[in-house]
Formats: sequence, C-alpha cells, structure tokens
Amino acid sequence: MKTKKLVSLFLILALAAMCVGCGSSSAQASSAAAPTAEPEKAPESTSAPEQDPVSTSQPEPEKAASEPDGKSTSLVVYFSATGTTRGVAEKIAALTGADLAEIIPAEPYTSEDLNYSDRSTRATVEQNTADARPEIANDISLDGYTTVYLGYPIWWGQAPRILSTFVESHDFTGITVIPFCTSGGSGAGCTGETLGEQAGTGTFLSSTRLSAGESDADLQSWIDSRT
Ligand SMILES: Cc1cc2nc3c(=O)[nH]c(=O)nc-3n(C[C@H](O)[C@H](O)[C@H](O)COP(=O)(O)O)c2cc1C
Repeated sequence: MKTKKLVSLFLILALAAMCVGCGSSSAQASSAAAPTAEPEKAPESTSAPEQDPVSTSQPEPEKAASEPDGKSTSLVVYFSATGTTRGVAEKIAALTGADLAEIIPAEPYTSEDLNYSDRSTRATVEQNTADARPEIANDISLDGYTTVYLGYPIWWGQAPRILSTFVESHDFTGITVIPFCTSGGSGAGCTGETLGEQAGTGTFLSSTRLSAGESDADLQSWIDSRT
C-alpha cells in the first residue's frame, strides 16, 4: 500500500516536471522549495542492497579502460547516497572504458539525513533551499576529458544540491556532459538543463533516468544515443 502511494507520488512529480518543461531553472527551484507530498520509501532503494548511505568509499577516480595514450577522454562522475546511482555509474564506466569519480560529501549523509518522511531532515531541507551548496570533500579534475557522464539520484524531483556545488565549481568548456539519474519512479525532468544553466560552461544534454537493473544492452543503446 505504502509502495503504491509512493509510486503514485513520484509519478505525479514526474508528470508535473514534464508539464512545466525545461524553460527555466527557477521553475525547478520553486517546485523544490515546496514539496507537497511525503515520499515514504523509494522502490529502487529497497531493491538495491542496503548500503551505508555515506559516500566514503574508495578514493576516486578509479581507472577503467584507457585510450591508446593511456588516458581516457571520458569520465563518469557520480553522487550516490545509497548506492543505486553508483551501480549504474560503474556499469557505464565499464561499457565505455571511462574513468570513474565519485562526488564525496564533506559531511556524509546519514540514514536520518535521507529520511524524507521527516521534512526537517537534512536532504529535504537542502532541496527546499535553492542556494544550498553542500561542500564536496574531494577534488575531481576534468582536465583532458571531452565527455563527462554525470550521475545522481533524484531528490524531490531535482538533482541533489551537491550536484550544483559540483557544476558551479568546475569549468566544462569543451566538454559534453551526459547527465543520468536514478529514482524511485520520477523522471529526470529538467535536471540536466538546470545543471547546465548552473554550470554556465560546456554542453549539457538532457538527463535520462536509468534503472539499477538496466541491462548492458540497454545501457549501451543509451550510450550510443547520447554520443
Ligand atoms: C531526500 C530524498 C528525496 C527523494 N525524492 C524522490 C523523488 O522526488 N522522486 C523519486 O522517484 N525518488 C525520490 N527519492 C528516491 C531516490 O531518487 C532513489 O532511491 C535513488 O535511486 C537513490 O539513489 P542513490 O542510491 O544513488 O542515492 C528520494 C530519495 C531521497 C533520499
């Protein structure tokens, strides 16, 4: 019952995002400023193994396959609080031979921070604060990359604010950014366009919602369609 309610909520969020269109980031910010419903439990979070919702995993970037000169020109950058986006990012890196880098929050997100049933908890408060810019612990260099896959979960219909911190603190000139996201059911909405506006440099494509269980063949088709 709760799952049905959640799915309905997320579908409503997705439809609302589609209706609004991608004309302006302020529409995004204002829709995030006042979430009108309470997610209960994300379906994909339950299907993915429960992981410590703390992005303190191995140092990044990790080397994947390389170009002949020893360095890939593609990079997969992701933020993942509970592991779902990480899994998709790792598959994309494996399929493309891209390097992999994780955006690690300076202040890790605890389970309580992610409890969207309580609107006073950190992640929801951040999403309700358009200019919130959570600090990033690690340096991720974009030097030498011409393609950046950028992955994140959907939080209240938007990219987590730490993605704004990331795009605003990097120069994407000469880089094509291919955003992707995971969610409990909501679509990607205008999150790619919004991040592109915040970055102010580079070419940001629209974002695609990908599932944790995406097959390699489907992921490859998506990659081919974006490159
Ligand atoms: C604060 C918060 C808000 C969320 N808001 C949404 C939402 O609006 N729509 C949706 O489908 N899923 C929402 N979710 C679920 C996540 O998008 C989903 O579980 C995602 O796959 C988690 O990715 P991760 O494991 O990489 O962090 C939310 C999760 C959290 C913690």
